[in-house]
Amino acid sequence: MSDLIAKIQKLKTAKKAVILAHNYQRADIQDIADYVGDSIELSRKAMQEETAEIIVFAAVDFMAQSAAILNPKKKVLLPTLGARCPMAQMLTVDEIRRAKASYPKAPVVLYVNTLAEAKAECDVCCTSANAVEVIESLDSEAVLFGPDRNLAEYVAQRTGKTIIPVPEYGFCPTHLLFQPEDVLVLKQQHPNALVMVHPECSSEMRKVSDFVGSTSKMCAYAKEAEASEFIVGTEDGIMHRLRKENPQKRFFLAYEGAVCPNMKLTTLDRIYTSLKEEKYVVRVPLKVADKARAALERMFSI
Ligand code: 13P
Ligand code: SF4
Repeated sequence: MSDLIAKIQKLKTAKKAVILAHNYQRADIQDIADYVGDSIELSRKAMQEETAEIIVFAAVDFMAQSAAILNPKKKVLLPTLGARCPMAQMLTVDEIRRAKASYPKAPVVLYVNTLAEAKAECDVCCTSANAVEVIESLDSEAVLFGPDRNLAEYVAQRTGKTIIPVPEYGFCPTHLLFQPEDVLVLKQQHPNALVMVHPECSSEMRKVSDFVGSTSKMCAYAKEAEASEFIVGTEDGIMHRLRKENPQKRFFLAYEGAVCPNMKLTTLDRIYTSLKEEKYVVRVPLKVADKARAALERMFSI
């Protein structure tokens, strides 16, 4: 293994590459990455990258696409073609156009968990870290929002606005695995533990939580909170970062099976091949990229 890591490091230097990894990546990938973060942090990092010539994006398709859109001069590599987020596949361009025709006055806000063609159709993007602020910044009372239904409901609750979900039931298969019953059992075993959940979880999960936020916001919350035990309602990969950053605290995953199979397709071996063969290059058609970039940049300006 250390041989493989050494080979990756050597290639990285020779090719002037950086590795960006999402919080859900395998522990060994997080450990060799130049930067580990949530979706907004990774987009920002990719956008601001100046010196590297190659960005290896250890995550899923839509995140690597955003990097390629935001920094078109760089070669962005997705090590595994199959690393596709099923939620991003749930929203088609036709669905957005139909929704816009039905609600012509409502602005369209899309979660970054969408493909570039969908982003190109919207007014502004958001992530789980800034969805509330993005919606609050809009003048309109009614907003078309997709694809995650749970995030839509969370945002509606927090902003008091009318959020029209597009499609009707977009979801993350991994976050739907969490059940409040599992949290309550863990709470009996660890009565002082704080419960943190991702907004892609159900409203029932939100009800039993102390904190709702993006993956990196959870990391910040765990660091700052005085509590020493936490029950975690998001994908398993985050546990590595939480434990590494807080060795004196204890973390319990609310459901042990909460593993995103798409995020886990990336392995050290695939990172090595990706760097060696410079594949798979993420390409977004120019017209689509220009429109999608405008929606992403609007998000960054809020
Ligand atoms: P973050 O915005 O917290 O990185 O979440 C992205 C994601 O895909 C959650 O399932
Ligand atoms: Fe997509 Fe869910 Fe995996 Fe996030 S955890 S990448 S939303 S399938």
